[in-house]
Amino acid sequence: MSRLAALALVALTWFIVPAHAQERALGSPDEPKTCLNCHDTPDVTGVLHGAHMVKADARTKVSDEGCQNCHGDSRAHAARPADGQARPKPAVVFAGAAASPVADRNKACTGCHEGGAVMHWQGSQHENADLACTSCHSSHKTQDPMLVKTAQAFVCFSCHAEQRAAAVKPSHHPVTEGIMTCSDCHNPMGSPTLHMLKGTTLNETCYACHDEKRGPFLWEHAPAAEDCSICHTPHGSIQTTLLKQRQPYLCENCHDSSLHNSQPFSGNSLPGRPGAARQMILNGCANCHSQVHGSNHPSGVRLGR
Ligand code: HEC
Ligand code: HEC
Ligand code: HEC
Ligand code: HEC
Ligand code: HEC
Ligand code: HEC
Ligand code: HEC
Ligand code: HEC
Ligand code: HEC
Ligand code: HEC
Repeated sequence: MSRLAALALVALTWFIVPAHAQERALGSPDEPKTCLNCHDTPDVTGVLHGAHMVKADARTKVSDEGCQNCHGDSRAHAARPADGQARPKPAVVFAGAAASPVADRNKACTGCHEGGAVMHWQGSQHENADLACTSCHSSHKTQDPMLVKTAQAFVCFSCHAEQRAAAVKPSHHPVTEGIMTCSDCHNPMGSPTLHMLKGTTLNETCYACHDEKRGPFLWEHAPAAEDCSICHTPHGSIQTTLLKQRQPYLCENCHDSSLHNSQPFSGNSLPGRPGAARQMILNGCANCHSQVHGSNHPSGVRLGR
């Protein structure tokens, strides 16, 4: 009987020892390769090509913490679970059913990213709407879609249907074409300007590219100096040149028609008719007042040249 017990003991240690050896062989949780023993799939390994896994860059903390730089304490997770126990989760899980609360996920990122472009995150519309950094960023893609011109807008469109619809109207900024991005005008991480605009004002945002509209002009047009969005919509329009309304109505929001005849669709507006209003040819006030943004011509007083 006792020989049988001894044999059982030997057999038992024979099973247990390799198990321990296996656990040790996986290595330290501070080493990315430990994790990669079990997570060697393309949806995970993309991160190895990004900025966060550069060992030589001390700011990434990779050489000390490995993948725990983002996922937090994962020691229990990477070790062999006790018999019959489920494998504990890493401290921070970013996606899926087991995802950590938004605040914890964001804290993992803001621990390293507080300044620069992320400075105004606290209190931004996106933070208030309970978005996570990872609602937009994908850390495991070889290239984060937020930094790819052809990809960024489509992530935004998944929540912003109105802008998606505007982007396919005949006149639009070349965003879906991959020439511009939403973040050319917005800082989606927050900004002190209304609508999270990048410039200190709406007009400053536009001047970054349309500098010729800045002036100063000898003959200024008050609304253009004040706010481009009085006449233009930034995301897309069925009118030409991103106008909010067609002429002459656009102009007649402010200018009354007592000076010019402005009944565009009456017979009177046709050339050759008695009393025809030459001002209404093609309905375009800007045909004559071509410098609607301001003029520097000595005789540009009526914004005509
Ligand atoms: C011995 C194998 C093994 C090792 C080593 C390992 N994991 Fe895992 N990991 C798993 C398994 C299995 C899952 C599947 C989720 C589950 O059901 O527990 C998982 C899931 C995850 C998840 C997703 C959690 C979830 O529930 O969706 C993350 C994140 C993760 N691991 C990170 C890490 C990190 C970081 C390391 C290294 C510190 C690591 N893993 C090491 C086996 C391992
Ligand atoms: C341990 C510190 C650390 C943590 C945690 C961290 N980052 Fe970073 N991140 C960096 C460093 C360092 C860079 C490289 C910055 C540079 O080159 O100027 C970087 C770069 C980036 C970049 C731009 C560069 C690129 O090529 O990807 C983005 C976007 C970014 N991080 C997002 C995130 C998000 C989202 C999280 C949370 C899921 C996060 N980071 C967590 C340190 C960190
Ligand atoms: C609504 C989408 C969105 C959210 C949410 C978001 N980001 Fe970004 N992030 C972007 C976009 C778009 C860019 C590219 C900005 C650009 O082109 O200038 C970016 C750029 C960055 C960069 C690189 C900045 C640089 O100077 O290169 C870092 C770092 C970053 N984000 C971190 C974060 C962190 C941390 C959070 C959460 C606190 C976060 N982001 C939340 C969309 C987002
Ligand atoms: C910059 C922060 C960051 C770093 C560094 C990082 N991860 Fe992640 N991890 C994330 C985010 C964010 C997600 C959610 C999916 C996504 O956005 O790509 C995630 C998801 C995962 C998942 C779950 C995949 C799924 O969707 O089922 C695993 C497993 C994982 N990471 C393992 C690792 C391993 C292993 C390393 C180191 C080689 C690592 N992570 C490094 C941020 C990070
Ligand atoms: C040319 C600059 C510019 C670009 C590019 C741009 N926006 Fe805007 N956006 C603005 C301005 C200016 C406003 C201020 C409101 C207005 O005048 O309509 C705004 C307002 C918004 C608003 C607030 C709702 C509203 O219409 O008032 C959302 C949401 C928005 N933009 C999302 C986006 C998204 C998503 C993209 C990319 C597909 C994008 N924007 C590209 C300039 C821009
Ligand atoms: C996960 C969903 C989601 C994603 C992805 C997302 N947003 Fe938003 N965004 C929201 C919500 C929710 C709000 C706040 C409610 C609102 O004003 O519509 C908001 C607000 C905004 C506003 C301010 C609106 C205002 O009235 O001032 C702008 C600008 C904006 N988002 C731009 C972007 C851009 C640019 C991207 C892509 C880089 C993006 N968003 C990605 C959900 C999202
Ligand atoms: C990042 C650069 C950039 C910024 C910022 C910018 N634009 Fe543009 N804008 C462009 C480009 C590029 C075009 C397309 C020019 C072309 O098609 O030849 C354009 C075209 C236009 C057009 C003519 C569209 C058409 O259909 O002919 C108008 C109007 C316009 N922008 C107004 C604005 C306003 C208003 C703002 C500020 C809210 C603004 N832009 C901010 C780059 C910019
Ligand atoms: C009073 C209304 C009004 C305001 C305000 C206004 N625009 Fe315009 N904009 C127009 C009209 C009308 C056209 C079309 C001109 C034409 O058809 O000859 C136009 C055309 C444009 C164009 C395309 C043609 C060109 O001249 O390059 C750009 C770009 C533009 N505007 C940018 C701006 C910017 C930037 C601002 C703010 C600084 C602004 N606009 C303010 C009425 C306005
Ligand atoms: C938001 C109101 C507003 C809109 C819209 C507007 N304007 Fe004006 N416009 C003004 C103001 C204010 C002045 C300056 C009047 C003054 O100094 O007495 C002005 C001045 C002018 C002048 C010069 C008048 C003079 O005495 O020299 C012309 C021409 C003009 N606008 C044409 C247009 C045209 C064309 C449009 C449409 C594309 C237009 N405006 C749209 C408000 C507007
Ligand atoms: C055929 C050319 C032409 C067209 C089209 C035209 N205008 Fe004029 N506009 C003029 C001329 C020329 C003057 C100067 C008249 C004068 O000094 O008596 C003028 C003067 C003005 C003035 C200044 C009035 C003042 O009190 O000094 C405004 C404002 C104006 N136009 C707005 C408009 C609007 C709005 C439209 C479109 C409904 C329009 N114009 C269409 C040629 C035109």
